Amino acid sequence: MKIGFGCDHTAVELKLALMEHLQEQGHECVDYGTKEAGVRMDYPVIGKRVAEAVTSGEVEKAVLVCGTGVGISLSANKVPGIRAAVCSEPYTARMTVRHNNANILAVGARVVGTELAKMIADEFFQAEYEGGRHEVRVQMLADIEQEYCTGIHQ
Ligand code: RB5
Repeated sequence: MKIGFGCDHTAVELKLALMEHLQEQGHECVDYGTKEAGVRMDYPVIGKRVAEAVTSGEVEKAVLVCGTGVGISLSANKVPGIRAAVCSEPYTARMTVRHNNANILAVGARVVGTELAKMIADEFFQAEYEGGRHEVRVQMLADIEQEYCTGIHQ
């Protein structure tokens, strides 16, 4: 799978470790920055950049990392079509793909260690969306986006 990667300045090391890990498993990994841990990079910049790479089809899915995983996932989730999930353990990583059809995995570099993050990523990228009864709810998420995009709530 072609996977996009992004992080803020707090999480360069974990992002690179996850890229290497997934590359070893045969995935194609694209780095959307930031690349310098010593230079501040605000997480919304990277969250938006990587989210757009997913919605444009440039990459199929993505991994985002910041201190908690929260800020960068919130940023990505502002882009219609994105379902980014912050995961701190493998069970949620598996289930968010199976039930929510998550297309971005977010991880907190200040929350989980490197080996746990690799296990989380393994579950996320090995899982498959189940569709079926979950499709109705995933469609409801898209309906909420549509409602606001069309200005109903202005
Ligand atoms: C940066 O200090 C930190 O706020 C950021 O990495 C992230 O944790 C925000 O959600």
